[in-house]
Amino acid sequence: MNDSPVADRIRNREARITVIGQGYVGLPLAVEFARRGFTVVGLDTDPARVAALNLGHPHGPDVEGEELKALLRERRYEARSDFSVLEQSDVVIICVPTPLGKSREPDISFVVAAAEGVAARFRPGQLVVLESTTYPGTTEELLLPMFERRGARAGVDLFLAFSPERIDPGNPTFHVRDIPKVVGGITPECARVASLLYRQIVPSVIEVASAKVAELAKLYENVFRNVNIALANEFAMMCRRLGVNSRDVIAAAATKPFGFMPFYPGPGIGGHCIPVDPAYLSWRMRADGYEPRFIALADEINRQMPAFVIELITEALNDDGRAVKGARILILGVAYKRGIGDTRESPAHEVIAALCRRGAAVTYADPHVPTFRVGEIEFKAVEPTEPALRDADCVVVLTDHPEFDYATVARQAHLIVDTRQAIPSTVPSTTRVVRL
Ligand SMILES: NC(=O)c1ccc[n+]([C@@H]2O[C@H](COP(=O)([O-])OP(=O)(O)OC[C@H]3O[C@@H](n4cnc5c(N)ncnc54)[C@H](O)[C@@H]3O)[C@@H](O)[C@H]2O)c1
Repeated sequence: MNDSPVADRIRNREARITVIGQGYVGLPLAVEFARRGFTVVGLDTDPARVAALNLGHPHGPDVEGEELKALLRERRYEARSDFSVLEQSDVVIICVPTPLGKSREPDISFVVAAAEGVAARFRPGQLVVLESTTYPGTTEELLLPMFERRGARAGVDLFLAFSPERIDPGNPTFHVRDIPKVVGGITPECARVASLLYRQIVPSVIEVASAKVAELAKLYENVFRNVNIALANEFAMMCRRLGVNSRDVIAAAATKPFGFMPFYPGPGIGGHCIPVDPAYLSWRMRADGYEPRFIALADEINRQMPAFVIELITEALNDDGRAVKGARILILGVAYKRGIGDTRESPAHEVIAALCRRGAAVTYADPHVPTFRVGEIEFKAVEPTEPALRDADCVVVLTDHPEFDYATVARQAHLIVDTRQAIPSTVPSTTRVVRL
């Protein structure tokens, strides 16, 4: 039984919730709590983002403008940049970025800044949950002492937990409310209060033994994905040497009803999670004198992919009797994955930079990304019109956005390098398709 006042306030939906960081993760989460009747503040240090949200303009694919406007009208949701709001919060959820530094070491500064802001205004009885993906031990070794220095006692007047966010932005099937939540507390009471909170918005909450287990569960999920994508990428390179389409093989293997899960090759991994999170675990293990091998190998293979794509484009143009230098290359999609406008760590950066270095005239189309900066050059998206497709010496599919009309691409372009197998398997005889 949870009998702490915060538990009662959660049950009655009276708990005032602050979600720190209103990005891809924090905004949909804040909106979900607001939809369920809580009063939620979305706290963010970016004033432009705060202003846009208060006008009802969401930035990601998972929140509709109309819904945000309705919640603003009903005063269920408000964006703020002023940390004093924490003094009135019963529940604080931290969803700030956890990127890598220059030497690929964890940059935990956003988590530290946010948690310091919470600890400095600690209110006895508060529930504080960290959702940002991070190295094992962060909640207990970094956050807990910040609160203890202010006299807080975990499980008594502070409920501190880690619960990883597992959202897949833009996924039409699984929204925040559909994805089971893993929760690990500093004490069993911390876990119970945090579980109670998440049970208000998701059907399934899995309470694990500690915050560290929950931190590691998230890292294991993303290492698993990273390693399997690397396997698919290397497999695609091997299939190419053997003159076989890797997708045909993967599709055949995926007919096995157990023991196999398909992963697909691509031009390289991107986003804030898959290329970044494994490095958090590696960093932590290295500090312990252990060098994780799978993570290093997967990273090496995945990082080769943009160069492999350049090789495919170079060979494809060469077969047409053309050089990369001077070739007009139209890139379809620069976001790191389909259906969204997130270009963080996108392989498109490396592919476009390399093509430009070799003297190609590069343009790109992406319905989600109006401008795209590569080094000093700011590209503006073009429309993938029939003339634009016909004019290109090579069309390269880097992101398989659903908005592209692949049948038209197949009809109009004469040379296509398709890194996502988005182009239909039958194309006009005048079109040549090189598939990864
Ligand atoms: N994007 C994803 O698909 C995804 C999925 C699961 C988990 N995660 C994890 O969730 C965390 C957040 O990722 P995201 O994609 O939402 O990041 P994001 O960059 O989209 O958003 C982060 C937001 O936090 C704000 N911010 C930064 N420092 C702050 C501070 N001190 N106080 C208040 N606001 C601050 C930024 O202005 C920004 O609006 C990361 O740890 C990430 O690894 C991301």
